[in-house]
Amino acid sequence: MRQLGPTFAAEVQGMPIHGDVSPELLVEFVSLLHRYRVLIVPETRVEPQALVAFSRRLGPLEIHNRVENTLPSCPEIFCVGNVERDGMKASFSRGVEQWHADSSFRATPSDASLFYGEIVPLEGTDTMFADATAAWRMLDKDLQRRGDGLHAVHSLETLGQWNRRQNPDRPMNADNLPTRFPPVRQPLVRVHPVTGAKSLYLCPAVTSHIEGLEPEASEALIQTLIEHTTTDRFVYTHRWRQGDLVIWDNRAVLHTASLFDHTRYQRLMYRTTVAGGAPALSDG
Ligand code: OGA
Ligand code: MN
Repeated sequence: MRQLGPTFAAEVQGMPIHGDVSPELLVEFVSLLHRYRVLIVPETRVEPQALVAFSRRLGPLEIHNRVENTLPSCPEIFCVGNVERDGMKASFSRGVEQWHADSSFRATPSDASLFYGEIVPLEGTDTMFADATAAWRMLDKDLQRRGDGLHAVHSLETLGQWNRRQNPDRPMNADNLPTRFPPVRQPLVRVHPVTGAKSLYLCPAVTSHIEGLEPEASEALIQTLIEHTTTDRFVYTHRWRQGDLVIWDNRAVLHTASLFDHTRYQRLMYRTTVAGGAPALSDG
């Protein structure tokens, strides 16, 4: 076990990734996740079925709405990248989604995501993580007072508008998601159910506004907080090797992709997404 980021993120060598991992090992792994917020299992080389079976040990998995982005043999696996094969077309964006935690547009967002490097480009395409927990702890007391208790509205409509600015060829309301997922209010400052630690819950591309603030004030506050949270002292950048598995706690960190040269390289990542309220992740 080796800490990789300035305040968080640890590498866990040799963790078995399959459905029959012992309860003792799983408990140990989950407690490391609570402690380090991001865990990296390097070059583990898992098959999709084993990734799903391991992920399920943590809790029920979200199934992504866009069926074409999932693996036909494993609908729990959401594919990210620029690869198209065997009836699967990975989700590809020419713009990065910006800093976010996964599925914040759901009333109960995901607890954790598992992200596996199936095909990894030789350069570019790092995933960056920001320690939203340490960032809260180190935030100026005045800003802590201003932010605590506020709620932000997270909306797929807002994300759709943002995506269309990055990918102008993308159709309006591509998949009717905004009607299936109406806007939800999320606390700006979250309390982790296990550790009790507060963190900044910031997803600028998905956030329409902060309740009770004028649009300019809302945008300015989000901007100030995101700049603070994503300075180098709170960021770990994961440079992928093929077969790496990275697990992050969506309740404690933010993440974002970097751009890669999609005309030169192939990228294919598998993501499983543990739904909110996951039993194994919610016990102390
Ligand atoms: C995700 C995500 C980052 C990346 O799949 O949730 O944000 O590096 N991915 O592709
Ligand atoms: Mn994500």
